[in-house]
Amino acid sequence: MQEKARIAVLVSGGGTNLQALIDAEKQGIIKSGEIVLVIANNPNAYALTRARNAGIATYVITKKMTGSQEAFEESIKKALSDAQIDLIILAGFMSILSSDFTSCYDHKIINVHPSLIPSFCGKGMYGLKVHEAALARGVKVTGATVHFVNEIPDGGDIIIQQPVKVREGDTPEILQKRVMRQAEWIILPKAAEVVSKSILEEKEQA
Ligand code: GAR
Repeated sequence: MQEKARIAVLVSGGGTNLQALIDAEKQGIIKSGEIVLVIANNPNAYALTRARNAGIATYVITKKMTGSQEAFEESIKKALSDAQIDLIILAGFMSILSSDFTSCYDHKIINVHPSLIPSFCGKGMYGLKVHEAALARGVKVTGATVHFVNEIPDGGDIIIQQPVKVREGDTPEILQKRVMRQAEWIILPKAAEVVSKSILEEKEQA
């Protein structure tokens, strides 16, 4: 029996969620999966440095390099299949994947989103914009969600949610940090473990 699910993490920026996953694997919070590949669509993503520091293989592919969404996704698919990936984690990956792509990995892609879905999500809602929208609406509680990825942006089955209080005087930047610290960095590794475990069980029964 395969001991660990092989995980690829897709990133675009700073990679604090990737770091949380790397740390969680070291601490044994993730024990049913191992991160074997980090794919970035931005050659300058600091997440790549985090991956290299942890000794994880990296792959950089941009739409500019490939010329089209289709070729971009084909290139990612090839990297995933070459590395025999079982689970794909979107951790601050700022590119929407087509339904052709997501349908190839049904319930094998998870994403972390910095709000309580279905609030402040969908196309165009990412990063700081999510927190700006939450503050503009005046919500008193926000949070983060880890969900499966399907053809609808932020529309797949919800795996874990964690609420976070909004405080008087919060700026989008302050709120973003609190949501990361109190929610994202905790629930993403938890969800990675839960899904890795169930993928391994599924494989064993197949
Ligand atoms: C995180 O807050 C993540 O939830 C968000 O981007 C940030 C990436 O930070 N993702 C989205 O908004 C996706 N819709 P990181 O690179 O430090 O992990």
